[in-house]
Amino acid sequence: APRRDLAHLNVVITAGPTREAIDPVRYISNHSSGKMGFALADAFAERGAKVTLIAGPVNLPTPRNVTRIDVVSAQQMYQQAMQSAVENHIFIGCAAVADYRLEQIATQKIKKTADNDELTLKLVKNPDIITNVAQLREKRPFVVGFAAETQNVAEYAKDKLQRKNLDMICANDVSDSALGFNSEHNALQLFWQNGAESLPQDTKRNLSAQLVEKIIARYNQSSVD
Ligand code: PMT
Repeated sequence: APRRDLAHLNVVITAGPTREAIDPVRYISNHSSGKMGFALADAFAERGAKVTLIAGPVNLPTPRNVTRIDVVSAQQMYQQAMQSAVENHIFIGCAAVADYRLEQIATQKIKKTADNDELTLKLVKNPDIITNVAQLREKRPFVVGFAAETQNVAEYAKDKLQRKNLDMICANDVSDSALGFNSEHNALQLFWQNGAESLPQDTKRNLSAQLVEKIIARYNQSSVD
């Protein structure tokens, strides 16, 4: 059994997709299954950390000893994340948050009409959750982001690390359908200020155990800096 050496740490993790309603029966979302974030929550809890998991709509059981908060939309995830962030030492954004939502959610089902061959939906930007967490002036946690990229993985991830003012970013190449979204496997490239490391392809469970080590090493370093 892993050593329960992280009992002093509160960790909050977002996982899964968000779902942005179009009307009462339709929505916009993405292919995130929640597996990566749930595996990471499990790995932290196994080490004794107090874990809060803010989950979008997924079909996964709650890992043992993890407190789960279910949300649907990005705005709901934003509210729960901001509330939890100030109570935790480490914030990890593994969720695939929808960047945009409908400007207006139709109150009734949108009907198909004979005279309209086109339908236009107007989207507006959602708040960037992790950017807001990283901007906290008081009680700012150590902030770890993920980056889902289909090209220029390292370059785009390092750009997000700077732009979002993160302490660490975990990049995955989601152009390979055997990895990333909705797969049992992943591979990660980690970046932080003045450092980088790769975690080669493995199950999300095994990767998570390694990632916990890497995050804790950086977290401990940041508290002595
Ligand atoms: O859930 P799985 O099927 O297991 O798949 C795992 C995964 C591929 C979804 C995961 O490993 C991953 O990469 N998650 C981040 C996906 C993503 O949305 O990346 P991004 O590059 O668009 O966002 C960068 C960072 O900003 C992320 O930490 C994201 O949580 C955060 N973000 C993005 C938009 C937004 N409005 N708010 C945010 O906080």
